[in-house]
Amino acid sequence: RSKRRKKLRKKLSTLEVDKGAPLKGKLLIQMFEKSSLRTRLSFYLAIKQLGGGTLTLRSNELHLGQGGESIADTAKILSTYGDGFMLRTDSDKKVENFRKYLSIPVINGLSPSSHPTQVLSDVFTVEEIKKKPISKLNICWIGDSNNVLDSLIAASVKFSFKLSIGCPKKFEPGTKVRNWVKKNKKKIFIYNDPKKAVSNADVIFSDKVISLNDKVNKKKKLAQFKKFKIDKKLMGHAKKNCIFLHCLPRGNEVTDDIFLGKKSHVWQQALNRVHVEEASIQFDPTTNVPEVSMGMNSEGARVWSRITGANIGKPIINHDKSS
Ligand code: CP
Ligand code: NVA
Repeated sequence: RSKRRKKLRKKLSTLEVDKGAPLKGKLLIQMFEKSSLRTRLSFYLAIKQLGGGTLTLRSNELHLGQGGESIADTAKILSTYGDGFMLRTDSDKKVENFRKYLSIPVINGLSPSSHPTQVLSDVFTVEEIKKKPISKLNICWIGDSNNVLDSLIAASVKFSFKLSIGCPKKFEPGTKVRNWVKKNKKKIFIYNDPKKAVSNADVIFSDKVISLNDKVNKKKKLAQFKKFKIDKKLMGHAKKNCIFLHCLPRGNEVTDDIFLGKKSHVWQQALNRVHVEEASIQFDPTTNVPEVSMGMNSEGARVWSRITGANIGKPIINHDKSS
């Protein structure tokens, strides 16, 4: 669906509305408790291009942050005024609570445990560039065990691709995540030697070593990741046509010549978020079963619902049959 949407938009200018304005009259409310450039802009464009509108809130300007209004009451108001709610927060619990109290869809725009809209879009970008299903490719992650990696791991289970992770021992994915993968009868491959992790890779992903609001000794952590810097030499251990992707913003985990070089597709990756978000905010699980077939009560479904970010069962609009 994202592929078709992207093609259809080729001749349209930035704010021109898609034919039929499928989200005409709909309002997506966005709330950011942490900084954002891409997520904010891509959702703005996604809803605008579908004919709807968006309003961005800062949590410290609401009663929720300062005046002690409950999430339940805030959620009730959001559900009365808007048609969808996108939230970027430092609290997974808050995402769960909004999910509980909102009667409109809630989209996870990044939380400590996941960054679903990023990774959905990344899967799309990989398949677009490689022209192959991601299940046929070797995907590698070099970096911290953070929210983006957790979503990538969940995606590797969902889309059945081989995922190799290169990171220092101390920063490997935790037992909760590893047990979840095992429970789903899948495997992830973890290496403390970056050369081994990238060996045979079709795609190398990375992200900042220090995430937003990461409460660590930054200097010490950066030093621990020193040998995991992605440079020409490390890329040389991957497949010849291996590509480099990064969600941005970047730190010094990758050299400029790789990040800005021919193997890097980071700008295309960033822009694709608009098209994938357009497809996902129109997603109607009642007519499109596979994504929700795991059921809501298993841990798998919880992680997957974080990937899709959708509040299952409550689409913004009905399935767009033309796309
Ligand atoms: N990749 C990403 O989510 O970027 P922002 O933090 O700028 O939204
Ligand atoms: N892992 C990063 C992703 C930023 C888009 C963070 O949480 O800051």
